[in-house]
Amino acid sequence: MQTQRLSIRRGFLAAIGLLAAWPSAIAGPNEPRSLRAASNGLFTIGAGVNDRIPETPNDWPLLIAQFSALTPENCLKPNPVQVAEGSFNFTRPDAFVAFAASRHLQVVGHCLVWAKDDRTPPWFFRDGEGTADRDLLLARMKTHIATVAGRYRSRIAMWDVVNEALDDGKEFLRPSGWSRACGEDFIVKAFEFAHEVDPQALLIYNDYNNELPGKREKQIRLLRSLREKGAPVHAIGLQGHYELDRLPLADLEATLVAMREFGLKVVVSELDIDVIPRSRWWADGGRYREELAKLDPYRDGCPPEILRRQADQYAQLFRLFRKYSDVVARVSFWNLHDGQSWLNDFPWKRVNYPLLFDREGKSKPAFDAVLEALKPEPTASKPTPATGKAH
Ligand code: GLA
Repeated sequence: MQTQRLSIRRGFLAAIGLLAAWPSAIAGPNEPRSLRAASNGLFTIGAGVNDRIPETPNDWPLLIAQFSALTPENCLKPNPVQVAEGSFNFTRPDAFVAFAASRHLQVVGHCLVWAKDDRTPPWFFRDGEGTADRDLLLARMKTHIATVAGRYRSRIAMWDVVNEALDDGKEFLRPSGWSRACGEDFIVKAFEFAHEVDPQALLIYNDYNNELPGKREKQIRLLRSLREKGAPVHAIGLQGHYELDRLPLADLEATLVAMREFGLKVVVSELDIDVIPRSRWWADGGRYREELAKLDPYRDGCPPEILRRQADQYAQLFRLFRKYSDVVARVSFWNLHDGQSWLNDFPWKRVNYPLLFDREGKSKPAFDAVLEALKPEPTASKPTPATGKAH
């Protein structure tokens, strides 16, 4: 009797064990809960991932369990796609888009025009020995956009049409081959061309620091002008590369309010929170660089206190995104987990922890904090209706 009971009990425990193991097997390393489920009905949740994702099955469970949109980290940028005029390379993008489709994941195309000289293939700006004029530049842009966006028409859900065109300093637009030859018309045209090629795609203007006051004004000025000229821009992308203890929450909120008034969507396109703040790298003409280049304080692990602060700050961000979910169309992290973050190498080499998952793909305190922040507010209990005059 006793033995029979024991074996029933064992069977029962085994069944429970199986049940417990089941969700983690399909949901990613030890993590049955999902960001995608938590943000359902609010906004799309995505990640920028390594171009080689189709070849790295170890990353798939986490990716598929947590996210519904993917941005290829590099392979759709102008440089790898058309390194010489007319010579297009679609090997990686094709594999990426096919992979995403087979997993029912949306693809974010990044990016058709990158308004920086060093991020545009140099031939774009050349004409023989001289400099390409506006017409030649726009014709090349048109061919690029028609070829790339055309190839993935209806398979790429949204495009960063223009990346990083606003100037960080006193100018309105960043000085570049693009702005020198065309003024802001290159932005107008890029959106027109993209819309012609894929009228269904959500078209995004993407930049960094464009929620901060200086660039925000320029962003709004640009959007007004694009609207006047009839350019089909549907959303702005806030890259969202933030630093611990320096989240611009008030500026973010002001930007979300402004975009709501403007009737445009916002995507947070490349979110991370660097735990080894980097802004001093650019301060005072780079005089701290030598010192910073040696700074690698968490190479043996990130202190729990830092992870806790990061979690609180992610929660603040996601509470804000939830509050403005009528405006926020997507939130994408930049990279899948800490081990793959660009912030381990940029702007200097260090062991960094900017994301929601650790190097093994396990959830960090920030993951729990984000899930909590995405939960609906409990509905406030209604005040008891007044029944008569106050005494
Ligand atoms: C910018 C670009 C991205 C990527 C990141 C860093 O934000 O938009 O494509 O290069 O920098 O990896």
